[in-house]
Amino acid sequence: MGEKALPFPYEIEEMKPEEDELINTNFGMPVKYVRLGPKRFIVYKTYMQDAANIYNMPLRPTDVFVATYQRSGTTWAQELVWLVANDLNYEKAAEIPLTQRYPFLEGFMFFDEVILQRVCDDMMKTEENFSREKFLEMSSFLAKPVTPLLAAAPTNIPRFIKTHLPMSLLPPKILDTAKTVYVARDPRDVAVSCYHHARLFKMTSFQGEFKDFWKLFVRDLYAMMPFFEHVKDAWEKRDDPNMLFLFYEDLSKDLPAAIRRVADFFGKQLNEEQVTRLCDHLSIENFKNNKSVNFEDLRELGVLTKGETFIRKGKSGGWRDYFDDEMTQQAERWIEDNLRDTDLRFPHMKH
Ligand code: A3P
Repeated sequence: MGEKALPFPYEIEEMKPEEDELINTNFGMPVKYVRLGPKRFIVYKTYMQDAANIYNMPLRPTDVFVATYQRSGTTWAQELVWLVANDLNYEKAAEIPLTQRYPFLEGFMFFDEVILQRVCDDMMKTEENFSREKFLEMSSFLAKPVTPLLAAAPTNIPRFIKTHLPMSLLPPKILDTAKTVYVARDPRDVAVSCYHHARLFKMTSFQGEFKDFWKLFVRDLYAMMPFFEHVKDAWEKRDDPNMLFLFYEDLSKDLPAAIRRVADFFGKQLNEEQVTRLCDHLSIENFKNNKSVNFEDLRELGVLTKGETFIRKGKSGGWRDYFDDEMTQQAERWIEDNLRDTDLRFPHMKH
């Protein structure tokens, strides 16, 4: 008897040929996206392997999701949330890498097997001491959906889950059961950060300048976009008691206050000294050197480009160094157009 297919409510829409062409101009590896549902969220085609399982995933009251549009401060929020929820267990946080503490719900879709083979072939040519076997073993693990792993996780320990999926691709009743911390960030800083990220990973290997990347970004032609639909999906749920909606800019401006909000959300009490220590632990300088959070272990695997790092500047407003006048105006128009029909406002922007 065959397994019954799980319901997945969204239509799949192929990208237009001219969009595919534009997208594939500057990436070193082929990019195959599709759009899902009425908001037309872009995912890698490989996502469809597990889309229905994710949408229908059984939840537990102890589940904690950290959800963001990519490069909006996920890693920062993950470490903060995990430490607060786990009574500031710094020893355990150092011992177990963040990637193991938080399965990455749709992470498999970035590790397309065909592309990994290509990365591997390139590495064979360029890197001394490269172990093909080790690479393929590790990467085939990363290319596997994590829903089976999550289903098998012990029920007496809370599950922490990282995702860049918009709320409408997650289980529709997620907030009836599980807690979600969502972080939003100024899309101009997100664009710059995504650009570096697309250069960092050999699976994407972006070859162009920032201006080339921006052309895609401002047209919402990047994974998990449209950007504003993603943020609005969560913003609409910000008053739900199981949703904590944060802005990267607020964390930057007043980290102790953000820590207190997270502590309240998880029903934890922190004294002044504990907040100070946590702020220090969460500083960008410490993060850069913290092996448990900085993703440098992937460098050993060979998938990271030299000269780029996962934990980067950690600043707000750094986009100004990348945008010329034309791009600045495009961004202003894009933001204005997308904020017209909503009460979503980024706290640092003058409206
Ligand atoms: P920049 O590229 O602008 O520096 P994500 O974790 O969602 O991928 O987000 C990555 C962004 O968050 C990067 O932004 C990264 O440097 C920044 N970041 C990571 N850790 C941080 C920290 N401790 N403090 C401030 N920003 C941090």
